[in-house]
Amino acid sequence: MTAIPAGEFSDYVDAIAGALVRDGYCVVDAGVPDELLWALYERTGPRSSAAFRRAGIGRDDSFRLNSKLRTDTIHWLSHDYPAESAYLHWMEYLRLELNRRLFLGLFDFECHFARYGKGAFYKKHLDAFAGNTNRILSTVLYLNPRWQDSWGGELALYRDFDSDPIENIAPVMGRLVLFFSERFPHEVRPAVRRRYSIAGWFRVREF
Ligand code: OGA
Ligand code: MN
Repeated sequence: MTAIPAGEFSDYVDAIAGALVRDGYCVVDAGVPDELLWALYERTGPRSSAAFRRAGIGRDDSFRLNSKLRTDTIHWLSHDYPAESAYLHWMEYLRLELNRRLFLGLFDFECHFARYGKGAFYKKHLDAFAGNTNRILSTVLYLNPRWQDSWGGELALYRDFDSDPIENIAPVMGRLVLFFSERFPHEVRPAVRRRYSIAGWFRVREF
């Protein structure tokens, strides 16, 4: 696991880009500034008034619920709310700086809050299938103050569908995980507490 300390923004992006080139994924603690982090927590945590709905698979016409695969609820971020807008801006900076370093041609970013109730899960899946997507780089930011390892809720990352996990990442406050969407099957393990995150995707243009 690559633990990247908070510091200058360019060092932060250099470290992320380096880890992505080397490993295809990275784990950044203190992934966003503190003030933004807590504003995001307010927007999704127990005191939030934001509307959430059951997550499904696919979009629009192909959207369907699949409670064998995932049981979280979600809320897509937009520029209508200051905290959501601030996160979209932060990820926009990151998009531009990653493009400068890695020439990925990342075109935009979309993300949703996800709430996993006690026992909720998202079974092993890929965020993108080769040749069938414009999702290139997956991101997850965790919003769980004082999370304890014994509560579960890890993000397990796999090299392929049949092997043991290469990482079991605890969803601790401020941790940001990035990985190439086509390369890493992953799952959200059930937890004994509510679990909050923002899942997001840098995308290339659709043709
Ligand atoms: C997803 C996802 C991981 C997490 O929403 O596609 O894999 O740890 N989320 O919340
Ligand atoms: Mn996923």
